[in-house]
Amino acid sequence: MTTISLRGIRSIVGGLAALLALSCGDSASGPDGGCTGPVESCTLRELATSAGVRIGAGAAVSRLVRDDPEYAGQMARHFNALTPNAELKWQATQPERHLRRFESADLLVDFAAQNRMEIRGHTLVWAHEDVYDVLPQYVNDVTDAGRLREVTREHVNAVMERYRGRIRRWDVVNEPLTIAGEALHDNVYRRLLGDRWVSEVFRMAAAADPDAELWLNENLALSNAAKADTLYELVAEMVADGVPIDGIGFQGHFLGGAPDAGHVETTVRRFADLGLRVAITEMDIPMPDGAEGAERQGTDFYETIAACLRVSACEEVTFWGFTDAHTWLDGFLGRPARPLPLDGEYREKPAYDGVRQALAERAGL
Ligand code: XIL
Repeated sequence: MTTISLRGIRSIVGGLAALLALSCGDSASGPDGGCTGPVESCTLRELATSAGVRIGAGAAVSRLVRDDPEYAGQMARHFNALTPNAELKWQATQPERHLRRFESADLLVDFAAQNRMEIRGHTLVWAHEDVYDVLPQYVNDVTDAGRLREVTREHVNAVMERYRGRIRRWDVVNEPLTIAGEALHDNVYRRLLGDRWVSEVFRMAAAADPDAELWLNENLALSNAAKADTLYELVAEMVADGVPIDGIGFQGHFLGGAPDAGHVETTVRRFADLGLRVAITEMDIPMPDGAEGAERQGTDFYETIAACLRVSACEEVTFWGFTDAHTWLDGFLGRPARPLPLDGEYREKPAYDGVRQALAERAGL
């Protein structure tokens, strides 16, 4: 009997997706994959390539990449980057001490490589306690600083070493601030290591893979000026202390509609002036109700993304999902949110046109 290895299945899936990506639609790409035809005929991937930036499908789900060729093919056709949904989170890679699980993350890393997509490693330490219960219990149960450093170093080393050279960009710490953004979040790290805990984890990541880009990822700073200030203080202090930090990811879960574009641009510029790279890492905006909802959403996507891309340090925009068929917001809000550039049947929405327009401007097309 012939048996096919997991690696074999992965490469078949990856190959099919690449084929679909090439054969789908009638987009106009040049030899480097950039946009050569009229802007309206180009995919986001082609335009991002022309602009020299990353356009990412976030919340990528390994099970769907494996089992749903349309999901996989459309992702590779429209995007040149991806961020795993949960596959790289601590709960997934080491739910119990010394129990390592990398199969589902491997599948996405292989898929990205086969389709020439960059991958954002999301995320090494996410220690929220009020909204999400995201740390494995064995980490939450730690009661002394030395042990917390030990389990964190073990985890960071295991994951970064496994993907060294394949994942070159990590969200080292996710959401260190409170939701309202007045201060650092109260969690096991702050209680045991003090306010410099974020810097400590960045130094561990730099030691584990000196060539990786190290990013801090935070929510709501593009729509909350006070939170942007707190984040700026934290990061400016890290930079002044010589902590190895390369970039700031601004999550973009704009549940109440687009933020003020002026605030987006000013905020991005402020962090860029610290010498950092910038990305919008998790963007979704629920579609407003009513006949004009889709158009409004298109304008919101355009204005927000164009504001970021006006700053040269803004080098990536990643959505949290990419098709309305699969979005965490349906569960989070308890209703269909339709917050993404492709609809449930992979048709381009006005939101897609808005992103296309912002990328075309950055590319000078
Ligand atoms: C979400 C996932 O999409 C969900 O499937 C999971 O249940 C909870 O986490 N900010 C982040 C992401 O940084 O990792 C979160 O992803 C959404 C909010």
